[in-house]
Amino acid sequence: MRKNIVAGNWKMNTTLPEGVALAKEVNEALKSADAKCDVIICTPFTHLASVNAVIDSKLGLGAENCADHASGAYTGEVSAAMVASTGAKYVILGHSERRQYYGETSAILREKLALALANGLQPIFCVGEVLEQRENGTYNDVVKAQVEEGLFQLSAEEFGKVILAYEPVWAIGTGKTATAEQAQDMHAHIRSVIAGKYGQEVADNTSILYGGSCKPSNAREIFAKPDVDGGLIGGAALKCADFMGIVAAFD
Ligand code: 13P
Repeated sequence: MRKNIVAGNWKMNTTLPEGVALAKEVNEALKSADAKCDVIICTPFTHLASVNAVIDSKLGLGAENCADHASGAYTGEVSAAMVASTGAKYVILGHSERRQYYGETSAILREKLALALANGLQPIFCVGEVLEQRENGTYNDVVKAQVEEGLFQLSAEEFGKVILAYEPVWAIGTGKTATAEQAQDMHAHIRSVIAGKYGQEVADNTSILYGGSCKPSNAREIFAKPDVDGGLIGGAALKCADFMGIVAAFD
């Protein structure tokens, strides 16, 4: 079923003690918050097991990536099975920073998705155009291709486990948010692309999150749009008050 979700992506921030402290703070805040959405934090690999030990089941935990191989001689990589063994339930895949800086292609992402799903992890699959594509008007085609190439090998049942996140690259960490209308237009477009492949019911049951300079001050307007089902939050997820301010946008 389609859910409203606010997920934090901590990226490469916080040492282990800092991360555990932040997770405890969010966990405590959530206990008294009466949140009207699911709340997830995605942390560096090194933090997962320790964070899992200090949070309650109300707060979801995810990784920010996983390997495109199941196991073996891949020095420095962390497998989906390893992530799942920490107690994490989610994994962000295809974040634009992974696509841009670490050369992640749709082919690599298909491997990661299969492994994540095989290990019971719910993928948070990111798509989004760069500024040039926004400006030259190709953004709808770019995002459609990312969705088709990354996800359309999945069965309808597998696809039903995927959470999507639309993150325009020009809005990530820049303080420049997409307008609520731009987010709505793209989310509706993504949903229609999904409907074309899996049918309207599957499309209507898919959660599509917006990411890119989401803050307590703009989350309410963006989340109010009919096809926006929450947010994937970077910078503002690193301060408990800001993160909870975004969670409170669903009331
Ligand atoms: P910011 O919220 O810092 O713009 O980051 C968004 C993002 O990339 C979440 O995955």
